Amino acid sequence: MKIIVVGFEGDIGKAVCKELGARHDLILAGRSNGDIRVDMADRASVDAMYTKTGIVDAVVSTAGDVHFGLLFEFTEETFMLGLQNKVMGQVNLVLAGLSAVADAGSFTLTSGVLDRDPIRMGAAAATANGALGGFVVGAAIEMPRQLRLNVVSPGLLDVSAPRYGAWFPGHETVPSERVGRAYAKSVEGAITGQVMIVE
Ligand SMILES: NC(=O)c1ccc[n+]([C@@H]2O[C@H](COP(=O)([O-])OP(=O)(O)OC[C@H]3O[C@@H](n4cnc5c(N)ncnc54)[C@H](OP(=O)(O)O)[C@@H]3O)[C@@H](O)[C@H]2O)c1
Repeated sequence: MKIIVVGFEGDIGKAVCKELGARHDLILAGRSNGDIRVDMADRASVDAMYTKTGIVDAVVSTAGDVHFGLLFEFTEETFMLGLQNKVMGQVNLVLAGLSAVADAGSFTLTSGVLDRDPIRMGAAAATANGALGGFVVGAAIEMPRQLRLNVVSPGLLDVSAPRYGAWFPGHETVPSERVGRAYAKSVEGAITGQVMIVE
């Protein structure tokens, strides 16, 4: 399959590339590096990406910036970052991609654990994750041409623990290989409309 991976340089993106790269032709897309530069929060940039790639079999997003901060310090602007980037960025990949993905192809997005197992300073991330789950459940039933749509919702990855572990007291980490396999299940399998919890 020809698969676009947006956010390939992150910890989840690396796990996905390791899992899928052995069997498929990956097009690496990122804001600052990659085969193709794209800012998924900018619909025109996403349209331009699909024009460059032509028809693909699957789109995987492992990207999404969110502001982490204490609830009483959030402003409309800092809260909006996650809605514009993590939520609308990934929604843009789907909306613009409806005519760029081959029949029976798939979209696999990324949310995360924080809307079911919260941490301090994670309210905006929890909001974005919940919104993505709602989008996938709501949009999957309207997908044309047997296109499929899922979102992977992992816990804290083992490889990310050195960076973020102090913010996640008591959380079990998830092996990055297991997270990579969830994306394979979404891309290569048959499920749709699923929030795929990986813990
Ligand atoms: N790591 C974990 O343990 C974990 C667990 C559960 C959920 N998550 C969620 O999964 C997502 C990825 O996390 P991560 O830790 O693997 O990686 P990350 O450090 O958040 O970086 C992922 C990549 O996404 C790219 N990116 C961000 N915004 C983009 C945009 N608007 N357009 C295109 N590319 C964009 C960045 O590219 P540039 O560097 O070029 O800007 C970056 O290389 C996040 O939303 C995070 O909340 C992470």
